[in-house]
Amino acid sequence: MKIFLDSAELEHVELAASYGILDGVTTNPSLIKKAVASRQQRGEDVDLQAYLCRLLEKAADVPVSLEVIGTRRQEMEKEGMLLFGRFNPVADNVTIKVPVNPSLTENGNGHYEGVETIKALADRGIPVNCTLVFTPEQALLGAKAGASIVSPFAGRLDDYLREQNQQDFAKEDYFPADGLEQGNVRDDNGVVSGIDLVGQCVDILAESGLTAEVLAASLRNPRQVREAALVGAQIATLPFAVISRLLVHPKTIEGMQGFTRDVVPEYAQLFEEKKVKSEE
Ligand code: G3P
Repeated sequence: MKIFLDSAELEHVELAASYGILDGVTTNPSLIKKAVASRQQRGEDVDLQAYLCRLLEKAADVPVSLEVIGTRRQEMEKEGMLLFGRFNPVADNVTIKVPVNPSLTENGNGHYEGVETIKALADRGIPVNCTLVFTPEQALLGAKAGASIVSPFAGRLDDYLREQNQQDFAKEDYFPADGLEQGNVRDDNGVVSGIDLVGQCVDILAESGLTAEVLAASLRNPRQVREAALVGAQIATLPFAVISRLLVHPKTIEGMQGFTRDVVPEYAQLFEEKKVKSEE
């Protein structure tokens, strides 16, 4: 499974790239707002265009998703072309993120305008990440319209189920992949958890012979990342804090403490001699 960084923070992109683990970057308007606010708090004036160019350069070898902001086909298509035309020349790595259904209300206009936009951009050869996916059917239509990536939001689907059961929870709390054992609302139209949503998206695309990659988004803890991989997600996008937590286990720390404590001077000297030789 590929690991994408879900962040618009330059420092995060730089660090993840330096670790050699960065397969891509995803941003959205909320992440850009956060990155801009954190720079402004440090007293910086943010020229967003220049900032995004730097971000694309830092992530030069991997795809970076930039999202449109409109809610109607014509504006989203125009925005997608503008973002791609302006930013893809920087490092040839821009993917345009388009919501699967940009309608702001359930009965509002525009249910199909996301897929129309996906088709229009894909027809122009622009890679599209179909976002805000909460059902396997949305993933199917997004992929059929031409998206190369579809992004189910696992954590937010878990939030939705917990909210309907009036459960208290913290954002990073683990939610069982097999669903809740108790509660009045145990599934969302046949989907029992965010991970189940990811798995059903993987299956429905495979069954339909569609090659779009499933990107598990809104992942909040390491176990969820593992489970996304095990249900076949091709990509997981993670906030920097979750990437860091993937490396932590108390027995790893305990083992390090023991190994460090047990280094005898003779063993330590080996490295000193090597150091001396390599410096010569
Ligand atoms: O990629 C989508 C992501 O940014 C949403 O994450 O944790 O706010 O639901 P979250």
